[in-house]
Amino acid sequence: PAARPLTGRKVVITAGPTFEAIDPVRGLTNRSSGKQGYAIAEVLADLGADVTLVSGPVFLDAPNGVRRINVEAAAEMKAAVEAEMAAHKIDVAIMSAAVADWRVDNVATGKIKKAPGGAPALHLIENPDILAAVSKSGPVRPKLVIGFAAETADLEANALAKLSRKGCDWIVGNDVSQDVFGSDANAVTLFTRNGNESWERQSKRDIARHLAQHIVDHFKADPQ
Ligand code: C5P
Repeated sequence: PAARPLTGRKVVITAGPTFEAIDPVRGLTNRSSGKQGYAIAEVLADLGADVTLVSGPVFLDAPNGVRRINVEAAAEMKAAVEAEMAAHKIDVAIMSAAVADWRVDNVATGKIKKAPGGAPALHLIENPDILAAVSKSGPVRPKLVIGFAAETADLEANALAKLSRKGCDWIVGNDVSQDVFGSDANAVTLFTRNGNESWERQSKRDIARHLAQHIVDHFKADPQ
C-alpha cells in the first residue's frame, strides 16, 4: 500500500484542446497536445487513484488503468465533468485542458458554401469556465481543485490572480515563453495559498510526478 498511496481517491482530469464547430466540417481549436494532462493521469493511476480523463481531441492513447471520456466542445467537456461529480464524490479535479475561450454562436447545420458575396462572418460567444464552475460547485466540490495558467509574462501575479478569481486551490503556472506546446518537457511553478514551488524544465512525466507527490502529501496531512 505504501507504493499506492492514492488508492480509493477519485480524480477527474481534463486535458487537450476543445473543438468548437463552425459547421459540420469545420471548427475552431488550439495547439494543446494533451501531453501534460495525460502524464498526470498516468502517474496518479500508478499511485492507485481511480482516474477519469475527460479529453478533447488529441493523438494520444489513454494511459493504462485510466478511464477516458472523449469530448469535443467546451460545453460537452463541462457536462462530462459535472456528470462525474454528480455520480461520485471526487477527491481531486485537475483542469489541464486548453478550453477554447469562445465558440461559434450559430453553428451551421449544413456546410457553409463559398459564395460570391465574400467570406461569412463568425459571431463568437464566450464559453463557460469549467475550472471556475468546478471550484464553486458547493456540496459536490472536489476536495482539491487544481487549475493551470499559461502565461508569457508576470507568471506569479497572473497565477495568483487566477487562484482567487476562479476559486481553485492550486495553480500550476506554465511559462509558455519557453517551448511548451507539443513538447515533451515543461517548466512550472506550483502556486498554493501556502506558497510557491518551482520545478525546472524537465519531462512532463517528471512534472507529473512532482505534482502527484504534492497531492499525496496533501492527503497525508489532511486524510479526509
Ligand atoms: O483563464 P485561463 O484560460 O487562463 O485559465 C486556465 C485554467 O482554466 C486552466 O486550468 C483551464 O483548464 C481552465 N479553463 C476552464 N474552462 C475555460 C477556460 C479555462 O476550465 N473555459
